[in-house]
Amino acid sequence: MSALAVELLLAINRLFPVSPNLREIDQAKGSVADYQEWERQELLRVAQSFGPYWDFAGKDVLDLGCGLGGKTVAYAQLGAASVTGLDLRSQSLRAASEENSRHNPTPSTVGFCLSDAAKMSFADESFDLIVSVNVLEHVEDLYFALAECKRVLRPGGLMLFHFPPFYSPWGAHLEGWINFPWPHVFFADRTLLQAAHRIELRQRRNTAYIPTAQVRWGELTHLPELNRVTTQQFEHLLSALGIQVLDQKMLPLGYHYFAQPGPFHLQILSLLRCLAWTPLVREVVTTKMSWVLGKVADVNDEQQ
Ligand SMILES: C[S@@+](CC[C@H](N)C(=O)[O-])C[C@H]1O[C@@H](n2cnc3c(N)ncnc32)[C@H](O)[C@@H]1O
Repeated sequence: MSALAVELLLAINRLFPVSPNLREIDQAKGSVADYQEWERQELLRVAQSFGPYWDFAGKDVLDLGCGLGGKTVAYAQLGAASVTGLDLRSQSLRAASEENSRHNPTPSTVGFCLSDAAKMSFADESFDLIVSVNVLEHVEDLYFALAECKRVLRPGGLMLFHFPPFYSPWGAHLEGWINFPWPHVFFADRTLLQAAHRIELRQRRNTAYIPTAQVRWGELTHLPELNRVTTQQFEHLLSALGIQVLDQKMLPLGYHYFAQPGPFHLQILSLLRCLAWTPLVREVVTTKMSWVLGKVADVNDEQQ
């Protein structure tokens, strides 16, 4: 049955050409510099979804899961007083630090910290702004990471989080190997891994990618580095931790394309936006979520 499922998946995959978006990411994974440039370019789109909250001027900023640092350096250039890029991977932090020396006219405003987001060593209330793009779906202990964010955020500070829910079209993070959306909704992990491994053996994608983008499909038992958080589970975590939601955008698939002029684009976009707010349906229609979160003062603090 499993072998049949793998053959079916591979047959479906052959029907889907690589979309321009996937090709862009694929090419970016070819070198550290290209990937950092892609990280920076992506910010233009991310910024739009945060509107007036996208304001770094004079703030002490934590870039949670900074990766290769393309965005970290951009935050400094947006006028942050200081930026701390935090990541689990020392290899990424080395590249991020080099990026900062090369592209930041004021490199001393940026520092880096090797740490798990769930166990940060910063003092309480250290940052005005915590920004995290494409990271929270990877964090293993999401509850503790969010609790830590709340702890290190100053009162009145903001958290800006942008990431895909698990059941989003590309939530399985198989792009580069599997080209069609929602493969993880239709196929079991084992099937996905075997298919990705077969494609890797044929196409040798890993040889064209920088080390942080390579995946050893043949050695895995489940989709790697994913906590599988859904929109609903994320809402529950926020409410359990008493984190205040100031703004929340559920960006539907194709939102970028249908925002451009075209026949019926506005109508289609409105429909997709409605679906992205419909319970259950939103889990699969939402491609990215943008959250603006704040810190509600503790009852004990208010009484003092
Ligand atoms: C897809 S990359 C995103 C990088 C960057 N934010 C960007 O948008 O260009 C995800 C990053 O999150 C980091 N990460 C995953 N789990 C983490 C954790 N628990 N603590 C700190 N960083 C983590 C990974 O090492 C990786 O560099």
